[in-house]
Amino acid sequence: MTELDPARIPRHVAIIMDGNGRWAKNRGMPRIKGHQAGAESVREVLKACRKIDVEYLTLYAFSSENWVRPKPEVSGLMTLLQKFLRDQSHELHDNQVRLRVIGHAGDLPGAVRKELNRVIDETAHYTRGHLFLALSYGGRTEITDAVRAIAQKVKAGELEPDDIKEETVAQHLYAPGIPDPDLMIRTSGEMRISNFLLWQLSYAELYVTDVLWPDFREPDLLKAIEAYQHRHRRYGGIK
Ligand code: IPE
Ligand code: IPE
Ligand code: MG
Repeated sequence: MTELDPARIPRHVAIIMDGNGRWAKNRGMPRIKGHQAGAESVREVLKACRKIDVEYLTLYAFSSENWVRPKPEVSGLMTLLQKFLRDQSHELHDNQVRLRVIGHAGDLPGAVRKELNRVIDETAHYTRGHLFLALSYGGRTEITDAVRAIAQKVKAGELEPDDIKEETVAQHLYAPGIPDPDLMIRTSGEMRISNFLLWQLSYAELYVTDVLWPDFREPDLLKAIEAYQHRHRRYGGIK
């Protein structure tokens, strides 16, 4: 049984939900079955986060690089996302969770955008919990978009180059004002960031588990948080 210190729950957990394809392959099933099973993990992890009071959850659902996958897989994922939003939005209401998106949501098919915008609007007044879905998201693109917006302000004479601070960059990211992730979990054992939250992860504690995303459930989340609670965050200091 996991013993968590309620005073040291990470405020923001970010997850690279990886391994759906391998989960399906291990069972001789098409990859989309892995994505379907992964949707159930999303539901359970979201619930568990509310239970232990993780305030912010950011889920890497589709990267800007994932568009190169075979068309049927991409469209299968989009359909699944649409269905998830339609069938599971009541979970967000029940748990008073506000949904937002980071990434180029405009790249998504119209039907998905419509469903997303509906849930975003309907949950906009909730303040208890926050769910961010990273969709058509890339960390380098996010920083590039921020640099472009800042350059435009300089060009317009609204900002002096000398006044550009770290906070200026942070304020031009997709979700300004959100605390940086304290804990970043990656499932399926890959030891890489894959273009996720490059700016925001600078001092996140990293936790990689071999568990494939469709198998990742509440006990796995609690285990990750327990490991986090044993970490000693130094932020470059010596204490
Ligand atoms: C993660 O699982 C889901 C997405 C990237 C959309 P994968 O589809 O990457 O699964 P693996 O890594 O091939 O097992
Ligand atoms: C990262 O997983 C993206 C998501 C989980 C949405 P990938 O499977 O795309 O990452 P790589 O290709 O293994 O780096
Ligand atoms: Mg993968």
